[in-house]
Amino acid sequence: MRSTELADREAEAFQAFIGACRKYWGGPMLAAVERAADAFTIDPGPDAYLRLEQRLQGNPTYGYFCWLERHLQRLKYASARGVVASLSRQRDRLEAELSAPVPDGLLSLDPRLRPPGYYRDCDIHQHPGGLWDDPIAGAVYHASASQPGGVVGRRDLHARFTQLVMDQAPGLRLADLGCGFGKSALPFARARSDTSVSAVDLSAPCLRLAAQAAAREQRRNIRYLQRDARDTGLPSQSFDVVTSTMLLHEMPPDAIAATLREAYRLLVPGGISIHLDFLPPDDPFLRLLYFGHSQRNNEPFMALSAEFDWAEAHRSAGFTQFRTTPFEDEDGALTRPIGVKWRFPWTVIAAVKTVAS
Ligand SMILES: C[S@@+](CC[C@H](N)C(=O)[O-])C[C@H]1O[C@@H](n2cnc3c(N)ncnc32)[C@H](O)[C@@H]1O
Repeated sequence: MRSTELADREAEAFQAFIGACRKYWGGPMLAAVERAADAFTIDPGPDAYLRLEQRLQGNPTYGYFCWLERHLQRLKYASARGVVASLSRQRDRLEAELSAPVPDGLLSLDPRLRPPGYYRDCDIHQHPGGLWDDPIAGAVYHASASQPGGVVGRRDLHARFTQLVMDQAPGLRLADLGCGFGKSALPFARARSDTSVSAVDLSAPCLRLAAQAAAREQRRNIRYLQRDARDTGLPSQSFDVVTSTMLLHEMPPDAIAATLREAYRLLVPGGISIHLDFLPPDDPFLRLLYFGHSQRNNEPFMALSAEFDWAEAHRSAGFTQFRTTPFEDEDGALTRPIGVKWRFPWTVIAAVKTVAS
């Protein structure tokens, strides 16, 4: 879609440069940091990553690795040739495109919805101003996510997860919480024309972009709703599957617990709650990367999930059969040595609303 194209070749070239730097950062540079870490013997335990970090302090490659992680993302979004500046130069056209009418029922916005503090007060993943305020914030997010060398979202990540969910789905009424600009929701609608997808997000700018894309595809089996995942207001027991992709790590623990309770309420007995997200790994080096990313990329709640009792939160929401499973975001990702390519610790978090006996 034109809405998310960069303004000119200079902006594109700059993003290609950032992408190339990221490739180096997440490949040879990561491998060098890992070699440096391997040289130390660290006592095991949940805090081993902190002891490892102490040992790495003063290592120039580690310092530069950390600096690049923060600043490549900042440059990508917020520099003079960054995505925000580039799309802002097209603001009038973008705003007109995004407010074009869509078929009845496809998009429902609630201008009275006040986003929670955790959402308003943090420029999540260094997106200036976050996702909720600026009308072109969704287009900015889409453009950023579409640039080469991104660390999230390998090309077919959402397709893989969609397939996994559809293989387990006990029925075809599906709620996607935190759908963003539709990247996680639309594949469910495309998977089968008889699915019915309710895609929920707080961000009106993202939902507008998502609805325009669905309208262009003439999708009849999806609707985008501006709602809070913690309290959607949708009818109880009206879904077979409640899912999310990359939502939970952006929430503080009380919001995750509330979202799981809401998922339970929304599901029919026998329905499944299934989420694709990141959980802190046990390996000290991977844990160091995880906590470092949380800090350096403005993802403050990622680190808090280390303290969160996922099993207990599911149990107290009413779920049974809670399980977490590593997710293979691309072929070979789970068996590949760490230093070959940076990746998130993708995990499927799933549970069942058991049929009452
Ligand atoms: C990292 S994005 C993921 C978007 C999409 N699921 C994807 O896979 O591309 C997280 C999304 O969660 C949304 N979000 C955060 N808190 C929310 C809440 N309480 N209710 C609904 N959406 C929320 C954000 O607006 C954002 O669009």
